[in-house]
Amino acid sequence: MRLSCRIALITGAAGGIGRAVALCFASEGAHVIVSDINASGCAETLQFLQEAGGSGFSIQADVMHEDEIQSLYRQIIDRFAKLDIVVNIAGGDCEPAADVEDIDYVKMSANLDLNLKSCILSCREAARVMKPQGFGKIVNMSSLVYRGSPNQFSYSAAKGGIYAFTRSLALSLGRYGITVNALAPALVAVPAFVTALGAERWEMLQKDCASRYPLGRVATPDDVARCALFLASDDAAFITGQILEISGGARL
Ligand SMILES: NC(=O)c1ccc[n+]([C@@H]2O[C@H](COP(=O)([O-])OP(=O)(O)OC[C@H]3O[C@@H](n4cnc5c(N)ncnc54)[C@H](O)[C@@H]3O)[C@@H](O)[C@H]2O)c1
Repeated sequence: MRLSCRIALITGAAGGIGRAVALCFASEGAHVIVSDINASGCAETLQFLQEAGGSGFSIQADVMHEDEIQSLYRQIIDRFAKLDIVVNIAGGDCEPAADVEDIDYVKMSANLDLNLKSCILSCREAARVMKPQGFGKIVNMSSLVYRGSPNQFSYSAAKGGIYAFTRSLALSLGRYGITVNALAPALVAVPAFVTALGAERWEMLQKDCASRYPLGRVATPDDVARCALFLASDDAAFITGQILEISGGARL
């Protein structure tokens, strides 16, 4: 077991990728704190995790609110007195497919708040716990759009910001035994896409991407979970400040 005795916080753990990461980490022996704005989704993830023999705990938190992030970390430390791993997954595109002239202030701000500011604030709280511990693994969720994506302006800016922030944090936390890395998946097949687009449009999108990815398919949540596991485990002990593209070879 690669995460035995580790306490791991996963945000966005009710979602497609977050749930896969939570289940994967629990199967590797971590005690997983499952967090999301969606309380019933969290409870479901926790149930799956426990049915599979894992151990965990659920805390609802809205990462767009600083006080809720602080309360999340306070509850973890009150209960476990330490935190080894944080995977910041909560996020999503609040302004998909807008022309640059049509960028909407509210949606743009939501993209920065949900994806970038939440990550920075969560990492700040993580650093406050991990520095005195002299140990920690932080994995942030960027996206392949960090390289740039037409019509995803504020989302790609937020995900690119996560990469820059990850590198800055890695530079400053390395000497405290803390690694900080980021994941950059291309398209991942998650249930939220089917809900948002409908089955037919999702199928078209998936086929179109798969035909352009050298590996001939889009990613599964498990593809991403295994990469998160690697970066959170001692196998990646000497890796920090990196972005891991999980892209099936897309955009090489
Ligand atoms: N699916 C993809 O193709 C893909 C590709 C690259 C990056 N990502 C990133 O991966 C992450 C997970 O996305 P997913 O594909 O699993 O989608 P998803 O919608 O299934 O999961 C996102 C989760 O974040 C939670 N969330 C949303 N707002 C929140 C808030 N304010 N506070 C706390 N939780 C909140 C949602 O409730 C949901 O459970 C996101 O950061 C997304 O940007 C996804």
